[in-house]
Amino acid sequence: MQILLTGGTGFIGTSLAQSLLEDGNELIVLSRRGHTDRPRCRYVQSLDKISGRVKLDAVINLAGASLAARRWSAAYKREIVTSRLDVTRELLALFSRMERRPPVLLSASAVGYYGHHGDGVLIESSPPAPGFAQALCRDWEGLALQVESLGVRVCLLRLGVVLDSGGGALAQMAKSFRFGVASWLGSGHQWLSWVHRRDVVRALIFLLKRGDMQGPFNITSPGPVTSRGFAAALQAHHSTFVRAGVPAPVMRALVGEMADELLLNGQRVVPQRLQAAGFEFTYPDIESALAACYADHTRLRTRNSSG
Ligand SMILES: NC(=O)c1ccc[n+]([C@@H]2O[C@H](COP(=O)([O-])OP(=O)(O)OC[C@H]3O[C@@H](n4cnc5c(N)ncnc54)[C@H](OP(=O)(O)O)[C@@H]3O)[C@@H](O)[C@H]2O)c1
Repeated sequence: MQILLTGGTGFIGTSLAQSLLEDGNELIVLSRRGHTDRPRCRYVQSLDKISGRVKLDAVINLAGASLAARRWSAAYKREIVTSRLDVTRELLALFSRMERRPPVLLSASAVGYYGHHGDGVLIESSPPAPGFAQALCRDWEGLALQVESLGVRVCLLRLGVVLDSGGGALAQMAKSFRFGVASWLGSGHQWLSWVHRRDVVRALIFLLKRGDMQGPFNITSPGPVTSRGFAAALQAHHSTFVRAGVPAPVMRALVGEMADELLLNGQRVVPQRLQAAGFEFTYPDIESALAACYADHTRLRTRNSSG
């Protein structure tokens, strides 16, 4: 298959690109930076560079400025929104001018779509509660869904917090543990819907292949945990001498608005539609996922120190 991938240089995208290339696919990767093409992998800096005559078998849309990279100033919040909506609009324009439309678009969203909820279990049809991330995901999904009118199958990827060694959220979340402090955020009772990166890649390839699947999919493990539950699971991989919550006012002082939007509140999301379709998670519980992340981390360190 020839696949167009936006965000293919990111945490999820690099892993997905590697798997798609190993499976024999050809990729066109959108990146703002210059890259040297590799066998079966071509980079473009703008979607305008793609001819309407190109034959694409799928488009995967993962691009967007990171939500957790820095403090949310008004300007950075605008970038978070426009980076996602602009790329998705440019994809719409590409789909419109193509002579032969790709049959499928997988477009990223996030569990932030649901807004903040208490302990209630959320499935794809659960109603959202208002908030910044919720409005962003609603608008992002709404744009992606417009290509359905061109006869394209659209899958919306409501991703949870993606875990793996070598980057992403886990590196941030494990920081205090490396200094001996097992910590959770605020009350620690808020839910964290997470997923191992390998299961994300497997789920996306599953959705690519299943021509009967469309609409929203929660890309989260079936075992969400509370912030305290996550801390307990992480503690098994570190020598810690103290357990403590980071009080909410401290979080607000440290990271501003992001604290309430992403960290002190959460949602308990389960992958109802993926599981109903027969998708099986390699890492369904937090213990097996973290064990895999830390085993990979150790393998990598051993390889680097012996090489
Ligand atoms: N990782 C998670 O835990 C998680 C959770 C929920 C949802 N998601 C969503 O899944 C998608 C992929 O996540 P990820 O963790 O792989 O993201 P990531 O590592 O931050 O990578 C995102 C990619 O988007 C591109 N990008 C960054 N800023 C941009 C901007 N201002 N304008 C246009 N493109 C920009 C970058 O490509 P270039 O620099 O090459 O242009 C980058 O490779 C994101 O949209 C994210 O919101 C991720």
